[in-house]
Amino acid sequence: MDLVIKDNEDITNYDLNSIRDKIIWGDALKVLKKIPDETFDLVFVDPPYFLQLPNKKLVRWSGTVVDGVNDEWDKFQSFEHYDNFTKSWLKEVKRVLKPKATIWVIGTYHNIHRIGKIMQDLGYWILNDVIWIKTNPVPNFLGVRFTNATETLIWATKEKNVKGYTFNKEYAKEFGIGKVGANVWVLPICSGKERLKDENGKKVHSTQKPIELLKRVILTTTKEGDLILDPMAGTGTTGVVAKALNRHYVMIEKKEEYVNAMVDRFLKPVKVPKTINRSYQRKIHHYLKLSDPYGLSEI
Ligand SMILES: C[S@@+](CC[C@H](N)C(=O)[O-])C[C@H]1O[C@@H](n2cnc3c(N)ncnc32)[C@H](O)[C@@H]1O
Repeated sequence: MDLVIKDNEDITNYDLNSIRDKIIWGDALKVLKKIPDETFDLVFVDPPYFLQLPNKKLVRWSGTVVDGVNDEWDKFQSFEHYDNFTKSWLKEVKRVLKPKATIWVIGTYHNIHRIGKIMQDLGYWILNDVIWIKTNPVPNFLGVRFTNATETLIWATKEKNVKGYTFNKEYAKEFGIGKVGANVWVLPICSGKERLKDENGKKVHSTQKPIELLKRVILTTTKEGDLILDPMAGTGTTGVVAKALNRHYVMIEKKEEYVNAMVDRFLKPVKVPKTINRSYQRKIHHYLKLSDPYGLSEI
């Protein structure tokens, strides 16, 4: 059976059995409308950032060229267009979430505040945000602003007063920093062997997310067997990790090149250990000059 379903106008509805563990190649705004109400246990969305980088070569003081996100999929005419796009997918995602499901949306200062406001206006209830501190951020190129080393993940239910959503507190405590397991995750951006490259050594996708990030999202907020949606899946990191952790997935992506990259990734399954890497977490605490999370002082 094919892993990829190419969406088209002749398809008017998707039944759950036909899309479970599939990649749907198409526009999420159209595809979501064809998916039944209350289908998913978790939705993870890593939408366009609308970075608005200037249309010129950006060179750092050191002389190296900045390889920023300048993709067509990240371009919108104005904030109004971006907000309308955001409202459209958030409305449809709300409909396809099960009553006790939760949603994660990740973004940077460019977009996450707008997204948070729209979520609240649509009735979503924000449970937390998690700040991802990148240990290897892209340095600021001109030295005129702080180096931007964080992304924010909003975690929410579809409305207020939802009881019984999945929260695996033991994982949350292990992944967060300090003895209280605070809502701060410290981990590197996707690099090395994990980063998908084409035959010329160029990154396949400018914003591929690390497996470790999705592992934390999935382990803290889903159970085995749950069904997870990523409607703007890029290289499919969410699905690859979901599969490795015995969850089901539906990936939607509109760009053919990324759909092909996802298929290759699914053909070479990864191992995602559920256990925390204690020595890594200790190094992080050392890096942040916090006390040891396991009560031992030596590194
Ligand atoms: C920030 S990237 C996601 C990266 C992904 N998390 C990963 O690990 O590779 C956003 C993705 O959304 C896709 N996208 C943007 N608008 C879309 C739409 N209307 N329907 C489906 N995909 C869309 C883009 O092609 C892009 O791959």
